[in-house]
Formats: sequence, C-alpha cells, structure tokens
Amino acid sequence: MTLRTTLVKGLMLTLAAGSLAGCRGMKHDEPPIVPIRNMYNQPRYDAQDEQEFYADGRAMRMPVEGAISQEMEPNLPLATGRTEDGSSWVLEVPEPVLARNGGGEAFVDRGQQRYNIYCAACHSKAGNGNGMVSMRAVELGYGTLNAPSLHDDRIRSMPDGQLYATITNGIRAMPGYSHSIPQDDRWAIVTYVRALQLSQLSLQAQNGAGGTEDAR
Ligand code: HEC
Repeated sequence: MTLRTTLVKGLMLTLAAGSLAGCRGMKHDEPPIVPIRNMYNQPRYDAQDEQEFYADGRAMRMPVEGAISQEMEPNLPLATGRTEDGSSWVLEVPEPVLARNGGGEAFVDRGQQRYNIYCAACHSKAGNGNGMVSMRAVELGYGTLNAPSLHDDRIRSMPDGQLYATITNGIRAMPGYSHSIPQDDRWAIVTYVRALQLSQLSLQAQNGAGGTEDAR
C-alpha cells in the first residue's frame, strides 16, 4: 500500500465518521431515522380524540359518577358547603373541621392569618371592601372589580356554607381560591369573617352606622 492510498483511505474514513457524528445533537425537520422500529411508534389516542368503541364517541373516558380521588374530602357538606342531599347550604362551619383544627380560638387565629394573606388585598383587613386592589381598580375605572364590604347585611346573613363555596368557587368577578387555600383553611376564613362581622357590628353600634368606613 502506497503512502498516497493510505492517506486517501484515512481522509475518507475521517469524512464518513464526521458526517455521521454531524447528525447528533443538530436540529432537523425530518423525523429521526430508526432502521429497526421496535415499539418506537405506537397507536394511541390524543386528548379530545374521537373513537367508535364507546357509545358517546369519546376516547377520553369520564370518571365513574361519584368517584373521588384519595386526597378528596369524602364528607360532602365539608367539601362543598352544601347539605348531604345537595338541597341547601350548610348553616354553620361543620363541627368535625373545628375539632380537628384545635377548636374555636385556634381556628379563628388561623382564619385571621389566612384572611389577611388571601382576602385583605381586595376586601381590606377590616372587611369593608377598600383593599388596595379594589381602590386601584376603581381609580383605573374598573368599578365592577370593586370588592364588596363583608359587613353588608346580605353577606352577614349568608349561611356559612355559601361563604365557604364563594371562597372555593369564586363568584362573578371574584376568582375561586380552592387551588391556593386548602379546604380546612377556607372554613377557618369563614369562621374569621364571622368574627370580623361581629366585631364591626359592635363598633357600628358604638359609633353609629358607617363608623368604620376608614378602617383598613
Ligand atoms: C382579587 C380581589 C379579591 C380577593 C383576593 C377576594 N375577593 Fe371576594 N370579592 C371580590 C369581588 C370583586 C367581589 C364581587 C364579585 C361580583 O359581585 O362580581 C367579591 C365578592 C365576595 C363576596 C360576596 C359574594 C356574593 O355572594 O355576592 C364574599 C363573601 C367574598 N368576596 C369573600 C372573600 C373572601 C373570604 C376572600 C378571601 C379568601 C376573598 N373574597 C378574596 C374580590 C376579591
């Protein structure tokens, strides 16, 4: 073998290795070349796909009616704020929630802390609806985003379950908070809002109606 052929062969080998290595890690529009396909591509349904096997034609199956996940609260009134048969609101914070959270005083304290974190920005610490977000909304001309006072007679006489459901699901312009406030904390907030309403009632009785307008 002459020196020349050795050099040519060496060059060809280098080029071949280079062109193969060049494929790795580079962007390419074509699907990768997989000579032996094995289980590389498998038939499957995508989200929201149709299929004919089930009568309703959906590939995505609904959970069996009434099924709940392991983390979910099995006690319906506790989870939803509605009575067992779903016909009306739970009137008071259910006893088991109070009991498992150390009873009344500890629960109100917890509620106060959570309320000040999650509700005060809009409803204000005093609950009169003049939170920073509300004031800013009004200033910018979005009066509909103004949070109401929690001392309105309508909200004061609202069943505890309805208040809980308002925090859980939100209502009209107010978003729901079930994603960020755990269930028992939502009941704790309800307990605290009741305490807040009582405290403002007695203040109003002392100062005449509207005596707490400037409290924030
Ligand atoms: C981002 C601002 C914002 C936050 C935070 C917020 N709210 Fe509201 N809330 C509103 C607005 C706005 C409304 C009025 C909704 C409407 O009527 O369109 C409202 C309405 C309500 C109502 C009246 C519901 C009804 O039936 O009319 C209650 C009770 C209430 N909020 C409680 C709470 C509690 C408790 C928290 C804390 C967990 C909270 N809100 C957090 C903005 C907020």
